[in-house]
Amino acid sequence: MVLSGKRILLIISGGIAAYKSLDLIRRLRERGASVRPVMTAGAQQFVTPLAVGALAADHVFTDLFSRQDEQDVGHIRLARDCDLVLVAPATADLLAKMANGLADDLASTVLLATDRPVLVAPAMNPHMWNHAATKRNVATLKGDGIRFIGPMAGEMAESREAGVGRMAEPLEIVAAAEALLDTSPKPLAGRKAIVTSGPTHEPIDPVRYIANRSSGRQGHAIAAALAKLGADVTLVSGPVSIADPAGVSTVHVERAEEMRDAVLTALPADIAVMVAAVADWRVASASDQKIKKHPGESIPTLALTENPDILKTIGHHTMRPKLVIGFAAETQDVDNNAKAKLTRKGADIIVANDVSPATGIMGGVRNRVKIVSHNGIEQWPDMAKDEVASKLAALIADRFRQG
Ligand code: C5P
Repeated sequence: MVLSGKRILLIISGGIAAYKSLDLIRRLRERGASVRPVMTAGAQQFVTPLAVGALAADHVFTDLFSRQDEQDVGHIRLARDCDLVLVAPATADLLAKMANGLADDLASTVLLATDRPVLVAPAMNPHMWNHAATKRNVATLKGDGIRFIGPMAGEMAESREAGVGRMAEPLEIVAAAEALLDTSPKPLAGRKAIVTSGPTHEPIDPVRYIANRSSGRQGHAIAAALAKLGADVTLVSGPVSIADPAGVSTVHVERAEEMRDAVLTALPADIAVMVAAVADWRVASASDQKIKKHPGESIPTLALTENPDILKTIGHHTMRPKLVIGFAAETQDVDNNAKAKLTRKGADIIVANDVSPATGIMGGVRNRVKIVSHNGIEQWPDMAKDEVASKLAALIADRFRQG
């Protein structure tokens, strides 16, 4: 909701990454922002003002010396009548102009005239990004208070060259814009949180594994909600098909043992929220080769062994976070099982839910939970998993406020 009603002046400069700016406009507008585009001459070589203007549903400003544009809006008003100036893509040339205060076209003039926050998403060949001149310009711009998103590592669009230089994806740019414009309170600023999410995959052989129905939706939502309150969040995620939440550093793992190692590596922390549906057992000796079916031979049996209990490990660790929260997905006797888990696992809170197939909770988008702590049991109404996450993050912030 941060971008709702916000006016964004989007400057598109001349790089192949300009094709992504079309999608960026859609993502910004989806979130309720209005987008007023400015295009350099170079940008118009890559995407047309017609496409940009159609997606932005606004006039596209291209010319510093257009009498019509100057009469209608004027470059000074263009530079100031907005909440954010976003430059995507920002070429090496435009960064150089910005760093040196040049103003020889509409984009650079607007950037010199603005008194609004400026966010740039650079995109260029890795050699250009690593050039001493670009490095000097970037350092100057950072010193001037210009904010950067990217560039990212990866393969370039126009060549097979890899390295740092790729423009951040539209959703990453949107998240950076949201973070920049977000003025909501940050009660968890300075707090570190570790969240686990999703299922684990326990290999049987190189192609088969034991898994469960966890989607990762609840854990990912909690990681995002904690980050929104200012926490520095490490999300350790099992294999899921949903995107990494913005503003969170995500570590991807497959097996329970990998998840435990990643969680321990992320210590120390103030908060641990263990949401993952970790497999209780793994195959004792997973086969290196695919187990073959031979006619007439007996059916293989899988010997299982216990997985590490990550929540319990954290709950009893010498570096135990101040607040340790576990989840209990139960299909029967939810309250008693959750209370027993509180003590056994060394947790401060157990978020208990009934995951009987009839509830549709496992893999679904809604949840109905009970907050089980040493203070008693509190039933929360049926809510979207995002809402459960916000309410839980607020409860965590409250606990820290109380000290
Ligand atoms: O004992 P149970 O699996 O029901 O406990 C659920 C809680 O314990 C969840 O918070 C889950 O993330 C955590 N857990 C864990 N490691 C395991 C099993 C469960 O962290 N091996």
